Amino acid sequence: MRDLLPKDAEMMRHVEQVSREVSKLYGYDEIITPILESYELLAAKTSEEIRERMYTFKDLGDRKVALRPEFTASIARLVANKLKNEPKPMRLFSVGSLYRYDEPQYGRFREFWQSNYELFGSARPEADAEILTLTNNLLKKLGLKNYRFKIGHTGILRGILTQERLNDEKQNSVRQLLDKKLWTEALAVAREAGVSQKCLTTLESLLETKGENAFQVLAQLRDNVQDYETTLAAVDNLWTILELIKDSKEQLEVLVEAGFARGLEYYTGMIFESYVPGLNIALGGGGRYDKLIQLFGGEPIPAVGVAQGIDRIVLALTKQEVSPKNAKERSVVVISVKDESMAKALELSAMLRNKGLPVEVAVMGRSISRALADADRRGAAYAVIVGPKELKEEKVVLREMKKSTQRTVPISSLTEEILAGST
Ligand code: HAM
Repeated sequence: MRDLLPKDAEMMRHVEQVSREVSKLYGYDEIITPILESYELLAAKTSEEIRERMYTFKDLGDRKVALRPEFTASIARLVANKLKNEPKPMRLFSVGSLYRYDEPQYGRFREFWQSNYELFGSARPEADAEILTLTNNLLKKLGLKNYRFKIGHTGILRGILTQERLNDEKQNSVRQLLDKKLWTEALAVAREAGVSQKCLTTLESLLETKGENAFQVLAQLRDNVQDYETTLAAVDNLWTILELIKDSKEQLEVLVEAGFARGLEYYTGMIFESYVPGLNIALGGGGRYDKLIQLFGGEPIPAVGVAQGIDRIVLALTKQEVSPKNAKERSVVVISVKDESMAKALELSAMLRNKGLPVEVAVMGRSISRALADADRRGAAYAVIVGPKELKEEKVVLREMKKSTQRTVPISSLTEEILAGST
């Protein structure tokens, strides 16, 4: 777990803020759930891999609890209970920190942040398309370049393995191995479970079926899985989703992978992850999960969602040298020349802040030259120097830090001068 120093914190908050803007643009209402949940709830609703990595302990009431490893399980709990009678569709947004005892490596932390979007109530392809295009627009808005989506469908593998009568447990272990790209091992599990030779050949062909021309890949896939009816339906579903996106003129760079699997067990349909070149870790991931809500009892409610990995998006932005618009653009340091002008300096600081300008007051009692050097080091755009001499004429000195030029301006026009300034 890391301490986030000002530069990192600023970037993380920037991605959080843009995520929140996007949630508003798409009509997702924010909900805030606790960081601590019942262990049973989290354990039952995620996957073996995440279960093993949860921070788990007993609280003082002797209840087994865990730090949340993701948002989806907690949100599903709410949707199955408190929110079950809300009109559908229901769009929910969450942002915050999550905890997984992952092996530390590049882009993998034990405390990390996600911004999470879930859409409940629709099993239709336009809901899947929305989650994909929302992610596309978030990454675009952040200024990331060359990012793309790896897309698959859990029904492809599930259709085949179910028809071959593999139970859920065996299917999950095949999926986990595929998620880790351990293809040979995955095929070995299927072979040991007694699947047919036709199945093994089909599985092998699936692992090869991938590419950037989505519709060509899907057409080839259709040919390969002729004998597996539900797999064909999955391929058609993915086709419809991608066609809808294409026809809506959304530019989405995709790589369709027939053998793509995600670590979480609850997915039932389209699944995806986002990537940028040169960074071999997913920036975000999600998919459709139509059966999770009914695990909590009650009506089945179809759902599709995505979690963006804020830490990793920050890594990608840093790698591509994209930085948020400088927040210090119009920042001001107000320096009082003498103690007797300090009260006026504070009054003027309040006046500028009231107009939305970020103001730091020089509070160290330094000489003007040292205070100016410090303002420069802090990246201030302007310094306002408040001295008794100018105050007699209701004026102050306004210094443009970058240009190292200064002029005396009437207090009555100070705000306007700064707001109209070029910096
Ligand atoms: P996930 O793939 O486990 O999915 O996580 C989503 C994203 O969170 C990853 O792509 C990654 O960017 C980030 N992430 C995960 N673990 C770490 C880590 N240890 N360090 C840094 N970043 C990490 C989910 O969590 C699902 N709940 C997504 C979802 C929402 N599916 C449907 N709705």
